[in-house]
Amino acid sequence: MSVDAVRLVEVGPRDGLQNEARNLSVDTRVALVEGLVAAGLRTIEAGAFVSSRWVPQMAGTDQVLRRLGQRPGVAYTALVPNLQGLEAALAVGCREVAVFAAASEAFSHKNINCSIDESLERFRPVLVKAREAGVAVRGYVSCVLGCPFSGDVSVSQAARVASALYEMGCYEISLGDTIGVGTPRATARLIAACVKEVPIGALAGHFHDTYGMAVANVQAALEAGVRVFDSSVSGLGGCPYSPGATGNVATEELVYLLERQGMDTGVDLEQLIEVGVFIDSQLQRTGGSRVAKAMLARHALIRPRMA
Ligand code: HMG
Ligand code: MG
Repeated sequence: MSVDAVRLVEVGPRDGLQNEARNLSVDTRVALVEGLVAAGLRTIEAGAFVSSRWVPQMAGTDQVLRRLGQRPGVAYTALVPNLQGLEAALAVGCREVAVFAAASEAFSHKNINCSIDESLERFRPVLVKAREAGVAVRGYVSCVLGCPFSGDVSVSQAARVASALYEMGCYEISLGDTIGVGTPRATARLIAACVKEVPIGALAGHFHDTYGMAVANVQAALEAGVRVFDSSVSGLGGCPYSPGATGNVATEELVYLLERQGMDTGVDLEQLIEVGVFIDSQLQRTGGSRVAKAMLARHALIRPRMA
């Protein structure tokens, strides 16, 4: 990857769909992921091996991953909260998984039913088993800039959890502003605290756009040296255990922001917009990307989006 390249981790098929009222079929989820690959995305979080009682939208992740199979140069990843999830991921040939902790105790309990320290202990054997199987593990830290239940979160707490996941063997730590309350200055302070514990090249930004700050926060993280960002096509997303949180920064916004500033994403924006139109029609939702809206209006690229 050149210095001007940014790696995008597309989380729409997981973070996006987990928060939608409408459950999509395996066929539609596979078509979504394949469309994203055709548009040039190379790391795609395709599902979650979590309890279907907790997140029914992610039921059938095993079938999605089986259908996708392996594709050279493309990583299909999935969330795993524990060993049970990892075993399910290994059974379908998953080559990369992600564990997810939080910087807030209250959110940890609501999301995965245990304390932060208990979650870290739960992840330790997951990392050991994944390493034995040659499977890469990414780590998330949620609520790094605020918690929907307990409010402010200190950057030192976020850095502590990021450090623990990195020390355990996660190759990359994604810092999640789960409820989108961050600002560029808060983002810069967060990155400054985290780089004391984790190399900058192993940090990723995961910004939700609840308050419209996601693109500004991406820019702040870029300026601090972060070169990996999570995003969702058409701004899908949210977390079922984070009331009021809306989608991730739209992948279309990221591609536009980065490419217009001379950075390479490897993504074809027009093709990506078509994928957004497809998934919005399947979900019967209004698209969440302003870049897509502007380009569709300007170029009449494809059929007008659903109202
Ligand atoms: P629990 O109830 O404490 O688990 O849930 P348990 O170990 O007591 O087991 C209870 C039942 O769950 C058992 O089934 C287990 O087999 C089953 P039963 O015997 O009652 O029939 N179970 C599982 N089933 C499927 N897959 C598994 C699994 N583990 C146990 N892996 C648990 C604990 C972690 C399972 C639950 O809390 C859970 O699934 N939580 C998922 C929450 C989630 O997916 N949240 C959204 C993702 S996080 C997010 O969006 C934030 C992020 O985007 C970053 C950001 O924005 O900040 C990543
Ligand atoms: Mg998220």
